Amino acid sequence: PTPENTSGSGRDARGARTTTKLAIVGAGAVGATLAYAALARGAARTVALMDVNRAKVEAEVLDLRHGGMFIPQAEIEGSDDVEVCRGADVVAVTAGAKQEPGQSRLDLAEATVALTRKILPGLVEVAPDAVFLMVTNPVDVVTYAAQQVSGLPHERVLGSGTVLDSSRLRDSVARHCGVAVGNVHANIAGEHGDSEIVLWSSATIAGVPLLDWRPFRGHEPLDAAARERIASDVVTSAYRVIAGKGATNYAVGLAATRIIEAILNDEHRVMSVSSRLDGFYGISDVCLSVPSLVDRRGVAETIDTPLSDDEVAGLRASARSMREVQARLGI
Ligand code: 2OP
Repeated sequence: PTPENTSGSGRDARGARTTTKLAIVGAGAVGATLAYAALARGAARTVALMDVNRAKVEAEVLDLRHGGMFIPQAEIEGSDDVEVCRGADVVAVTAGAKQEPGQSRLDLAEATVALTRKILPGLVEVAPDAVFLMVTNPVDVVTYAAQQVSGLPHERVLGSGTVLDSSRLRDSVARHCGVAVGNVHANIAGEHGDSEIVLWSSATIAGVPLLDWRPFRGHEPLDAAARERIASDVVTSAYRVIAGKGATNYAVGLAATRIIEAILNDEHRVMSVSSRLDGFYGISDVCLSVPSLVDRRGVAETIDTPLSDDEVAGLRASARSMREVQARLGI
């Protein structure tokens, strides 16, 4: 019998890959936490971490490897050389300028877009078949720039977008109503940032349209005032985390891991990732988050979600804000 994948090389007897490889660019708070989350969940058989700071990336790899016996079997590699990303199925880019307290995500646009232009070509060279998941902020502008620089089909370059914000929203709604977070289906759309909007009109709780939800004993109604409070809390929550601890890392690490799993496992999962819109409610030529189908190709489709007039107006305002930044940066 032909030995199958006996060496742990992730290759079969013909040299074809039988396992999955995730490359993470940037070993800062977000990149390292993403590596940890992906390993803990067994998202990929190989996790490769790349950072320009060799001492830091080597230390992160050691620390992660030392937990090896407690997680699903995985190879963990790290380097300051882009070669470590060779052959990756998914490349997640977390490298970029750090958001300081008081700064908005858009304040980072110039620095991060410049970095994206610098590093993307080398990554595409070593991982030409990968799906690229941009995580660095401002993620919608960075995703747009990455699509331009890489020359890859747009569906293969997506941004983590408002998957994280939607998780924040679901957590708030779940706690307000006293139900499990998994019972809440609700999305944030638009910019991952200050102009993002809640898609209340299509949200449901345990199959009940959210706008018809009747509170049970001991819980407040989910009326317009409560919804406004929740929406504003979600939009400002990253600022509160950054003020308290300098960066957000756990929730974004989990959100990015979940997107990566949807890609690697070809899940056809609806998620609010950032992708290039092409006529969505008349919006084109910007990357924004709307409910979209995520599978092995990346973003396969945007879901034709019914929107209220306010939601359409909010999404258009987000698009205008992205175009202004893109024009300023000449992209
Ligand atoms: C977050 O929303 C700062 O974009 C980062 O956690």
